[in-house]
Amino acid sequence: MTLDVVILAAGQGKRMRSNTPKVLHPLAGKPMLRHVIDTALQLDAHRLHVVIGHGGDQVRLALGNSALNFAVQHEQRGTGHAVAQVADDLDQDKVLVLYGDVPLIRHETLQGLLSQVDERRMGLLTVTLEDPTGYGRIVRDAQNEVVAIVEHKDASEQQRAITECNTGIMAMTRAQLQRWLPQLSADNAQGEYYLTDVVAMAAAEGVSVATAQPSSPLEVEGVNNRSQLARLERAYQAGVAEALLEAGVALADPSRLDVRGRLVCGQDVSIDVGCVFEGEVELGEGVHVGPYCVIRNSHIGAGSVIESHSVLDGVETEGLTHIGPFARLRPGTRLAAKAKVGNFVETKNAEVGEGSKINHLSYVGDARLGKSVNVGAGTITCNYDGTHKHFTDIGDEVFVGSNSALVAPLVLGRGVTVGAGSTISKDVEAGALTVARGRQVTKRDWPRPRKNQSGEH
Ligand code: UD1
Ligand code: MG
Repeated sequence: MTLDVVILAAGQGKRMRSNTPKVLHPLAGKPMLRHVIDTALQLDAHRLHVVIGHGGDQVRLALGNSALNFAVQHEQRGTGHAVAQVADDLDQDKVLVLYGDVPLIRHETLQGLLSQVDERRMGLLTVTLEDPTGYGRIVRDAQNEVVAIVEHKDASEQQRAITECNTGIMAMTRAQLQRWLPQLSADNAQGEYYLTDVVAMAAAEGVSVATAQPSSPLEVEGVNNRSQLARLERAYQAGVAEALLEAGVALADPSRLDVRGRLVCGQDVSIDVGCVFEGEVELGEGVHVGPYCVIRNSHIGAGSVIESHSVLDGVETEGLTHIGPFARLRPGTRLAAKAKVGNFVETKNAEVGEGSKINHLSYVGDARLGKSVNVGAGTITCNYDGTHKHFTDIGDEVFVGSNSALVAPLVLGRGVTVGAGSTISKDVEAGALTVARGRQVTKRDWPRPRKNQSGEH
């Protein structure tokens, strides 16, 4: 049977105390709503419908380009009213309702729920909580059949003692939903159209309510404030860390790791404390990452060592390389085997050949370094003239003395030696020594100025 998914995301999220709509707050670097959408996409749905309201334009903008059907709920008059905003757009066999602020729901759980739905059964995801305060309670009859959901505010003392709660996630056929939605009323404690009232309608019609439970309550936990979001973040990260440990990655402390994207590791990778991985990161076999590194969209070759406090973004390394501590490698940095980039070095759009070293305090941008190049401390490629970027091409075995400025565009031929402290702005042919600095003048019998006896100058 084909499927429409409806994601409710119109709520304001006042308790986040933020200008950003609640569902756009990131969990593991990705908006909560995006997590829900990505999970829904795994269900092979025909279309995803997102009900937006507060900050709707921002939500639309943030999630633009994806094939989503947005519907605006101008006034938040309850979950039933929210679903009604897309009722006319639903044209598949089944409908699944999700919340945009319940980010950790798993597609396996939803698949289990959906498999129970047919003309004679609707599906309801429930969870048993020690403290059910605030949740809708699942009311069952003597045969243990679900007959209604009663919202906390409408519940009797006796009903409040029920610990089986409504997660809000439910599924039914389109025919059922379109039959029941128009029958909802706002005659309740909150004056809202409760979607949950369809459960009693189902029971009254003899449609049974099949329930399913998540594998962990975390899956169905909603976010209303930053404290809940932070808790879900840690739970998510704990799951990522556990999976890495199981895959054979050594983590100095699984509670001090953050993966905001996808981290793929070869065998015997070790990661020290406080590291953040963003986007798509791949660490080859035996890579060691020291403490407090940030690595984004990078591919690190086998055996490489990244020492502490290094920041890598868009880096490709091939074979064993040595990076850091305190290195900043920006997009377009490519390191060949045995290359070394040391402390306080910044690189950008730079290809560093095999065995080449930039050990200290340098900026190398828009450049190619051949093999076995040695770049002395304090070397700068002056790649920018205020308008355009220019390229520096450094041949194999070039030796650049410390504190040199290489003014691009510039070609240093193979084996060139640049004297320390030079400002080089003209190409140099292979094998030559080039020096461009003020000559040192030494005066042997030079009288240093002295104050005279009377104190006058
Ligand atoms: C809802 C359920 C309750 C359940 C709880 C689980 C109803 C009537 N109650 O209660 O049984 O235990 O969730 O968390 O359904 N939303 C809209 N438009 C609206 C109202 C809500 O888009 O007019 C969205 C919210 O943004 C949120 C979700 O629907 O994502 C749930 O709304 P919320 O106000 O949190 O519902 P609860 O009262 O908590
Ligand atoms: Mg709620």
